[in-house]
Amino acid sequence: MLINDHFQNYKSYGIPKAQLVLVDIPYNVSKNAYGSNPAWYIDGDNKKGQSKLAGKSFFNTDNDFRISEFLHFCSKLMKKEPKAKGQAPAMIVFCAFDQQFEIIEKAKRYGINGYINLVFRKKFSAQVLKANMRIVGNAEYALLLYRNKLPKFNNNKKMIFNVMDWKTDDKKSVLYEKIHPNQKPIRLLKKLIKIFTDPGDVVIDPAAGSGSTLIAAEALGRKAYGFEINKTFFSQAQEWIAKCRLFRDEMTGFANSKILMDKKQFGLWDKN
Ligand SMILES: C[S@@+](CC[C@H](N)C(=O)[O-])C[C@H]1O[C@@H](n2cnc3c(N)ncnc32)[C@H](O)[C@@H]1O
Repeated sequence: MLINDHFQNYKSYGIPKAQLVLVDIPYNVSKNAYGSNPAWYIDGDNKKGQSKLAGKSFFNTDNDFRISEFLHFCSKLMKKEPKAKGQAPAMIVFCAFDQQFEIIEKAKRYGINGYINLVFRKKFSAQVLKANMRIVGNAEYALLLYRNKLPKFNNNKKMIFNVMDWKTDDKKSVLYEKIHPNQKPIRLLKKLIKIFTDPGDVVIDPAAGSGSTLIAAEALGRKAYGFEINKTFFSQAQEWIAKCRLFRDEMTGFANSKILMDKKQFGLWDKN
């Protein structure tokens, strides 16, 4: 279920508490969104002059995202700490490198005392304009946050390194859509959801963008809820979710209409 509202209004919707809050917050980069990205220039070539993305933000709330307020609401969205071991809820917050320190400190005010930093290694860098510094960023950062008890963890009792490869989606899949400038790959989200939840658990993305988290969670049989305030992202996300569900129903024999997709295209919506 995707709601076109601020996550601050979550109470009105009576949604169940989350085993996992999985979110990618605005990085507060404002008008510098494309600052180190070739997209700042026409065809990525600075000799051709600036493109229409120069000096633009990714979206209109990417300048004043209040971390304390966000953590306060997320702490309410998470399930209570259970008595049983290995069942505690968690939050995964994708964020800018610098935001990690503020999040770790401020989370403690809301009883979220534990954290593990996660690093995702990409095979590319969006910081090509910094190439003259020789070192360019190819990492994405996230924090795994929890109150006191270690979160539910499914990996056949095997450890997982905190540096992981950035799994990308098959862009040729008929189910693939590019909706959001900060869109996270479904394959990567699925990997995280499988580790920290079981089928039937609730996953909430309070800043859902393209709806990628909801698609990943639903494909894995989790209950998915999200909020998105931007009307354009919200309606595009709704359409994408509907398209994926139609495909699933066709594959499982519940659809009324035939959408003529190849089984090999299952990709984004399968259980892997
Ligand atoms: C970094 S993007 C998320 C991208 C998403 N993970 C994806 O894969 O498409 C953050 C989103 O949060 C939304 N947002 C910002 N403040 C919000 C709020 N208070 N309530 C709900 N959504 C919010 C923005 O409109 C933006 O689309």
